[in-house]
Amino acid sequence: MKLNSHIKHLTIDAGLFVGFWLAFWLDLTGLALHQWLGVALAAAAVYHLLLHQKWVEAVSERFFGRTSAQARRYYILDVLLMAGFSLITITGLLISSWLNLALADFGLLRLLHVWSSILTAGLVVVKIALHSGWINQALHRSFGRERAGAAGGVSAGAAPRGAPRLLNAERRAFLKLVGVTGVATLIAVSRALPGAVEALAGDEAQASAASSQTVSLGGAQSSALSSGCVVRCDRGCSYPGHCRRYTDSNQNGRCDLGECV
Ligand code: HEM
Repeated sequence: MKLNSHIKHLTIDAGLFVGFWLAFWLDLTGLALHQWLGVALAAAAVYHLLLHQKWVEAVSERFFGRTSAQARRYYILDVLLMAGFSLITITGLLISSWLNLALADFGLLRLLHVWSSILTAGLVVVKIALHSGWINQALHRSFGRERAGAAGGVSAGAAPRGAPRLLNAERRAFLKLVGVTGVATLIAVSRALPGAVEALAGDEAQASAASSQTVSLGGAQSSALSSGCVVRCDRGCSYPGHCRRYTDSNQNGRCDLGECV
């Protein structure tokens, strides 16, 4: 069965939102799934943009000329969202276990990754609020039943008496949509926020400065330091650490990747 255009757009947008939300639950997904999910989200965001390519091209051409203030607002928000998604994906790839780069400043890149995720989450809620009219209409057209007096179901004769009720229904639908997505985003962001604020306050800088004295090698490499410690990890994690590669098979309270010999 061919999906109609509303359902297709709604499915992609809902998938983007749920996937973005899930990306904040690293403990639940694990790092491997988180990385694949992140890349899939970047691809879905590009696809979303391609679906609106005509609008993007039209506003790009007329941005400084004749276009509405609303179109300009939407455009600026979309540029910020694109910048946010790009930063999340680039920093995510740089700190990923796929590339396993020997980074001098893993902590800073991780901080950028987390903060760009938090700020982009805020922008996503603003985007949902600005487009709530379209989203509610599309939801109604795709899954709703016609209701006299409710959004979309008012006959020409009933309009004057139905107008306030229509306005109330629209307001309720707006509050419901923004409330649900806003609260869901707050819950997701609250998982990453405490660590991100601490890191901004300097804990991460101290941790990575301390770790750079003892841990300075790329993931696959190993080297014996003067203290006799073999370091195979450049993440600088202290127990339990931020690194999802932490294992302690001999249960001595230290990560197996940074054992002393
Ligand atoms: C929209 C996409 C993404 C969002 C919202 C997101 C969000 C986050 C958040 C909030 C954290 C910190 C979680 C915590 O400490 O509990 C994190 C960590 C991380 N993310 Fe992402 N991320 C995204 C995409 C990606 C991508 C595309 C990659 C790489 C391919 C990636 C790789 C990582 C890595 C390596 C960490 C650090 C894990 C560690 O501390 O060991 N992320 N991400």
